[in-house]
Amino acid sequence: PDVAVLVPAAGSGTRMGEGTRKQYRELGGDPLLVCTLRVFDQCDAVGHIIVAAPAEDVRRVSDRLQEAGLRKLTAVVEGGASRQGSVRNALRAVPSSVNVVLVHDAVRPFIRAHHVSGVVDAVREHGAASLAVPVVDTLRRQEGKNFGATVDRDGLYRMQTPQGFRRDWLETAHREARTKDVPATDDVELVQRLGHSVRSVEGSAYNVKITTPTDWSLATAIWPRWCE
Ligand code: C5P
Repeated sequence: PDVAVLVPAAGSGTRMGEGTRKQYRELGGDPLLVCTLRVFDQCDAVGHIIVAAPAEDVRRVSDRLQEAGLRKLTAVVEGGASRQGSVRNALRAVPSSVNVVLVHDAVRPFIRAHHVSGVVDAVREHGAASLAVPVVDTLRRQEGKNFGATVDRDGLYRMQTPQGFRRDWLETAHREARTKDVPATDDVELVQRLGHSVRSVEGSAYNVKITTPTDWSLATAIWPRWCE
């Protein structure tokens, strides 16, 4: 298929505390990065996988991913100073036959193939799409040490990945972002800045971004059942 997934995996994992970078920590015997990539490798909707790894680890990550037998691995590139820079570097390695580009965080292993194909279908129809889930908690701003105003949660969503785009839209979005040097925490924002609408596709509460030690302990508890 004419679909590539870019996987930024060049973060330092500082919020996880000391020790091994989280993308290399093992979940059920495989590094987290491998767990995440296997889903895409086995997903019929995806043709190519491109990973951005920390500059000093490109060789090692590449060897480990070859060893894992990922059939769709197309390139392992050097990551950037930010997630945005890592995506931009990965985008340059996308083969010319690709028309749809997905971006998926390495640290979100709890993704199912039907979520991936749901995003791909929505991109083919609308040009851009992302998984997201509705906010369930009450939201309130903190002011100093106390609570201030309540934020109306009606219509608010937590953005997840994969996020998917027509290739030309994502390329233009990153080119513009680089020229203007305005950072964003996801690719949807960059594409919205071009004036394009982005479709919402229902995600799953399991699709967490493993960021803190608490997330990691939840992930290790869920993983064995997830793979059943
Ligand atoms: O830092 P953040 O939580 O946004 O990281 C989300 C994803 O982006 C992670 O998979 C992380 O490895 C990746 N990342 C990256 N390059 C950076 C920073 C983060 O590829 N410089």
